[in-house]
Amino acid sequence: MTITLQPITKDNWEIAIRLKVSDDQKHFVASNLYSIAEASFYPTAITNGIYEDDTMIGFTLYGYNDEADQQGYWIVRLMIDQAHQGKGYGRAAMRLIIDALHQKPDCEQIFISFEPENDVARKLYASLGFVDDGRMIEGEVVYRLDLHS
Ligand SMILES: CC(C)(COP(=O)(O)OP(=O)(O)OC[C@H]1O[C@@H](n2cnc3c(N)ncnc32)[C@H](O)[C@@H]1OP(=O)(O)O)[C@@H](O)C(=O)NCCC(=O)NCCS
Repeated sequence: MTITLQPITKDNWEIAIRLKVSDDQKHFVASNLYSIAEASFYPTAITNGIYEDDTMIGFTLYGYNDEADQQGYWIVRLMIDQAHQGKGYGRAAMRLIIDALHQKPDCEQIFISFEPENDVARKLYASLGFVDDGRMIEGEVVYRLDLHS
C-alpha cells in the first residue's frame, strides 16, 4: 500500500466531502464539509486528502494554532472512510502528518485531542508516542508528541 497526503483543491474537495465515518463514530469527528469550510478562515490550516494510490480514503486538517491558550501545531481532524478503516491507513497517515510537521523548523511539539471514549484514537496516538498533556479542551482529552525529547 502507498499512502500519501495530497492537498484538497477545487478538483478533489467533492470527493472529500463524500467520505464518511460510521454512525457510531460521527460524534468523534466533524464532517469533512465542515472542516473544509472551517479551514478556509485560517491561513495556516492545511487540508489534505489521505490517498491509497489514486483513491482518496481519508481526510486530515492540521496546522498552527495561534490562539493564546492553544498555541502550537495541532492535528485538528483525522478520519478514514468507514469502508477503509482497520487496514493500517490511519496509522500510516498519522506518520505522514507527523513527518510533515517535523519538517517545520519551529515545530517542537504536536498536539491532538479526542473524545474521552474514543479508545481507538487514544491507543493509536499513544502507540505513536503521544502522551497525555493533562488538559481537556471543549470536552476532549489533549495529547502531545514531543519531537525532540
Ligand atoms: C481513528 C481512525 C482514524 C483510525 O484509522 P484506521 O485506518 O481505522 O486505523 P488503523 O487501521 O491504522 O489502525 C490503527 C490501530 O487502531 C486499531 N483499530 C482500528 N479500528 C479499530 C476498531 N474499530 N476497533 C478496535 N481497534 C481498532 C487497529 O487495530 C490498530 O491498532 P494496532 O496497530 O495496535 O493493531 C479511524 O478509525 C476513524 O476515522 N475513526 C472515526 C473518526 C475518529 O475517531 N477520528 C479521530 C478523532 S481525534
